[in-house]
Amino acid sequence: MDLQDKVALVTGAGVRLGQAIALHLGQLGMRVVIHYHHSEKGAKETLNLMQESESRHLIIQADLKDVSTIQNLVLTTEEQAGPIAVLINNAADFFPTPLFSTTEKDWDHFFALNLKAPFFLTQAVGEGMKKRGTGKIINMVDVSVDRPWVSFLPYCTSKAGLVSLTKGLARALSPEVQVNGIAPGTILPPPDHAEMDLNSSVEGSLLKRIGSAEDIVQTVEYLLKSDFVTGSILPVDGGRSVY
Ligand SMILES: NC(=O)c1ccc[n+]([C@@H]2O[C@H](COP(=O)([O-])OP(=O)(O)OC[C@H]3O[C@@H](n4cnc5c(N)ncnc54)[C@H](OP(=O)(O)O)[C@@H]3O)[C@@H](O)[C@H]2O)c1
Repeated sequence: MDLQDKVALVTGAGVRLGQAIALHLGQLGMRVVIHYHHSEKGAKETLNLMQESESRHLIIQADLKDVSTIQNLVLTTEEQAGPIAVLINNAADFFPTPLFSTTEKDWDHFFALNLKAPFFLTQAVGEGMKKRGTGKIINMVDVSVDRPWVSFLPYCTSKAGLVSLTKGLARALSPEVQVNGIAPGTILPPPDHAEMDLNSSVEGSLLKRIGSAEDIVQTVEYLLKSDFVTGSILPVDGGRSVY
């Protein structure tokens, strides 16, 4: 796909990997819709870091756990920025939920944000993409789906569902739209990540180091520029999934 001046919606683009992806797409000449939930300051920072006229990009707030909000987000985006050519389903939550203390609320939270939101976002953008004959969707999944971490089962299971959804959506939206997933290993550990956990993820990989946001943005660029890859899940994990 020629990315120049096309509109990309990046969810969770006010912080960390979402911000890095949004910045990279801006550098590639795309018009970026920077979605955020609570990180208004971060979303503004993303825009400022783009160092371009504010009118070229858009910041938009939404709680993606609410399906009607998702529909409004897509409507507003397309009214203000034009048709969405690229959707990056990046927003997600991640925190431990040990088996015997996980609540129904925890479970519903992970599934609403990590799995239901990408489905309904894709539903909202997919029809237009198909009609226009082009579109790319990337879902951020996780290295843990095949060997789920015992203290993170709702998170891992929601991401496993997103792997299945990625393949199903690739089929449902073919041949016009390509849908792929990126399965990061440890790239940016959460701020509260214990050093011991970090050491074990480094030791449990082939390349003996964690990744960087650059590793992810290069993969995003590859998937957006390639027109013959769909329904695939690309591990970007330093070989952790095959260790
Ligand atoms: N970082 C890694 O090493 C790693 C490893 C494996 C997989 N991944 C996957 O890669 C993606 C990005 O990772 P990350 O570590 O950069 O994520 P992160 O720092 O945890 O950021 C999560 C994003 O999700 C957004 N979000 C949270 N709740 C939301 C809600 N209810 N509605 C809308 N947005 C909401 C947040 O928005 P606000 O900040 O605006 O509230 C934030 O931008 C995620 O899908 C993650 O699962 C990351």
